[in-house]
Amino acid sequence: MKLRLMAHLWLPFTQMQGFDAGARTFVRGQGTTLFDARGRRLYDAVSSIWTTIHGHCHPRIVEAIAHQATKLDHATLLGATNPVAEELAERLCSLARMDRAFFASDGASAIEAAVKMAVQYWQSAGEPQRTRFVHLTGAYHGDTAGAMSLSDIALFKARFGSVTFETRIYGGDGAFEEDVAAVIVEPLVQAAAGMRLVPPATYEGLRDIEPLVIFDEIATGFGRTGTMFAFEQTGVTPDLLCLGKGITGGALALSATLVRAPVYDAFLGEPRELVQFFHGHSYAGNPIACAAALESLELFGEERTLERAAAIARRAGTRLAALHTHPLVREGRQAGTMIGVEVRGDGRRIANDLYGRGHFTRPIGDVVQFVPPLSSTEEEVNAFFDALEGVLAVSS
Ligand SMILES: Cc1ncc(COP(=O)(O)O)c(C=O)c1O
Repeated sequence: MKLRLMAHLWLPFTQMQGFDAGARTFVRGQGTTLFDARGRRLYDAVSSIWTTIHGHCHPRIVEAIAHQATKLDHATLLGATNPVAEELAERLCSLARMDRAFFASDGASAIEAAVKMAVQYWQSAGEPQRTRFVHLTGAYHGDTAGAMSLSDIALFKARFGSVTFETRIYGGDGAFEEDVAAVIVEPLVQAAAGMRLVPPATYEGLRDIEPLVIFDEIATGFGRTGTMFAFEQTGVTPDLLCLGKGITGGALALSATLVRAPVYDAFLGEPRELVQFFHGHSYAGNPIACAAALESLELFGEERTLERAAAIARRAGTRLAALHTHPLVREGRQAGTMIGVEVRGDGRRIANDLYGRGHFTRPIGDVVQFVPPLSSTEEEVNAFFDALEGVLAVSS
């Protein structure tokens, strides 16, 4: 196999030394399939890291993007608005029962906004000492400095401790002290921790607490866990809700921090008071991305996406149960269509072997992930598990 080293492109979370670009170059996507430069068809078993919802290049989303691109490609939201961003804000707030939507581009940007909103909220509420943040064990909220601070990733702390701030662990000392601004949680499942399931009782303690409650649904939102948003299954209503990834159906970068009215109201005042939210990104509320998101929400109804997600979850659950006794499987974990198979062995090698069998996934340590597009058929789910069983059989 010829090694093709790239001259200029630097890939995220990838050791570039010796990276063989020829092995993983995707040139086309259609439905649940990615096509690589060598002409191989790959089932996108990880939804391109939890973004793709209705499949790649869904004609309706492509059409919505193309149509919007001819009308208004971009106009800043700094002191101005556009009808597409307004409509999307309304749709998202009504779906999530929140009051206002603040747009950004990637998930981590939505988290950064939530952090700053929480700090300023408490300044307005007359409790400026509330500046601390609490997160779950094993948390992951993104790679920017604030989001890394809220993450419980040893490597982040070891390497970037100098540019992150101190936080506390939920359930640990000081989690509800009077200096806590907000508790941030991933509902039901911590995807980046290897599809680590969070016991529902964990969320009980978040009802009626003084600090704000931030739910990070960047990975779990848009049907992945069976409901439109995973928080619906926790019985807790967040004060702030961060969305990203699947928000556009997976086609374009867009994220949102949704808030409830009391949070928003804390930022209202006379211009000279300087209490407006001092935060914003150039492409916030980009009309093309918002048009893709609106079309994606339409598809949820028309293609009965949540019903399809339920069928995928049932089929995957049955196949996962059959793997539990496999000597190479330590544990299978599932929250709806978010599935992790913790193996005894090298997750990377298993993922590579799966690639050879036409299934693209990316391992998290020794956890093989299966987070399929919600447009997947039961046959495709079966084919993935057949391939995984095949790979495990030759590894035994
Ligand atoms: C729960 C969670 N929060 C935040 C992020 C960061 O999102 P992004 O990669 O779009 O910045 C991720 C990404 O995987 C995530 O899973």
